[in-house]
Amino acid sequence: MSRFAPQWLLSLAALAAAPAFASGPADGSSKPVFVVAAERTHRAALAGAGARLSTLASHDGDALAIREVPADRLAELARHVHEKEKRCGGFFAFDSREQAEAFVRDDLSALAVSAQAASYTVDNQATVTPWLAQVREANIRATIRSLSGNWTTRHAASASGRVASDWVRDTWRNLAAHRADVSVEQVACGNCGQQPSVVLTVRGNELPGEVVVLGAHLDSLASGGASAGAPGADDDASGVATLTEVLRVALAGGYKPRRTVKFMAYAAEEIGLRGSNAIASDHRDRGVEVVGVLQLDMTNYRTAGAADLRLVGDNSNAGLQQLVRQLYSRYLGGGALAEYRCGYGCSYHASWTAAGYPAAMLFEGGTATGGYSPHIHTRNDTLANMGNSAANSVPFAKLGLAFLGELGKTSAL
Ligand code: BES
Ligand code: ZN
Repeated sequence: MSRFAPQWLLSLAALAAAPAFASGPADGSSKPVFVVAAERTHRAALAGAGARLSTLASHDGDALAIREVPADRLAELARHVHEKEKRCGGFFAFDSREQAEAFVRDDLSALAVSAQAASYTVDNQATVTPWLAQVREANIRATIRSLSGNWTTRHAASASGRVASDWVRDTWRNLAAHRADVSVEQVACGNCGQQPSVVLTVRGNELPGEVVVLGAHLDSLASGGASAGAPGADDDASGVATLTEVLRVALAGGYKPRRTVKFMAYAAEEIGLRGSNAIASDHRDRGVEVVGVLQLDMTNYRTAGAADLRLVGDNSNAGLQQLVRQLYSRYLGGGALAEYRCGYGCSYHASWTAAGYPAAMLFEGGTATGGYSPHIHTRNDTLANMGNSAANSVPFAKLGLAFLGELGKTSAL
């Protein structure tokens, strides 16, 4: 992976830092966090929450700002944006102002969205086509049921957030038990509370230095802090469950990829993309060649009459989006893929984009003006409120398998 020059423009000098905002008991800590978000998100949700430290311009012209915010107000702020503006209020959270500024300074999004990092091809039907018929809705449903029903919350700062991470690790280990070339580990991050991310690696049989990533987020959120009831069945047990089914199908058929393939369940996404940021920046710092990242965040709620799925148009790599469109048409017989703009930093593909890597995100079907599960970030984000079915996730699993087979390829050795 070649290094690119930083693309962020500091459009205004940093404003003087004000004293830390007084904070109550935070989600796991009473420390303030430093939030990088779109200026409009700051305006809609964060005004009055703390000192604005600097104003900047993002790679696509959005005005951004860094603000110091009490950690225990993050959930409430995100809810405000979802409720009032019917959109995602994405942000990155850091422990210190220096880290937030370094993130902005090192941001590689401008190149990551346009760069053709690899030449993508669609020529692995021999592997992908037989996989598609093996996807089982019941398996996805069972995993959503476990993740959303076993614990009150999967919040990163809760004890059950840790147990849920162990559960995913053990579930993935069981699927890979017969394979010496597959490893599953937990990756802790400095500001991820008690929750490590889970990373499963299938070592590439021919090109182990080239890495393909499929991810979803492990944690859940509801206003009320780390102990509030947050089943997170759609957001994002559905993504983890869909990934788990992709993994099951691929490993059941003895899949040996040419490239290294990694499945990730990220910690602490809901409180500022922390797990994915730690992992993506670590890959950048080690110079790992990541050829493509697919993320599944919210796959199981579908507004009546809506498309089965949508491709997120912003913070994503153009070439990889094109590949996903081709896969949708070739393997699912789909037409034009609907697009959804999710806004600055709405989910962890933005972490990979900021680290300079090509990333794309699939998102559930809704109306043209937005439209996604009205239950996210509440106690009502349950399987029951999705008709006790995971049928809507099935096309995501198929597209995930197509992505896996066409990016990972199949070893001829
Ligand atoms: N799954 C959502 C992302 C999302 C929600 C995208 C609705 C588009 C529409 C994600 O888990 C999330 O909640 N993101 C936060 C921001 C994040 C950085 C904390 C959000 O949308 O407020
Ligand atoms: Zn969410």
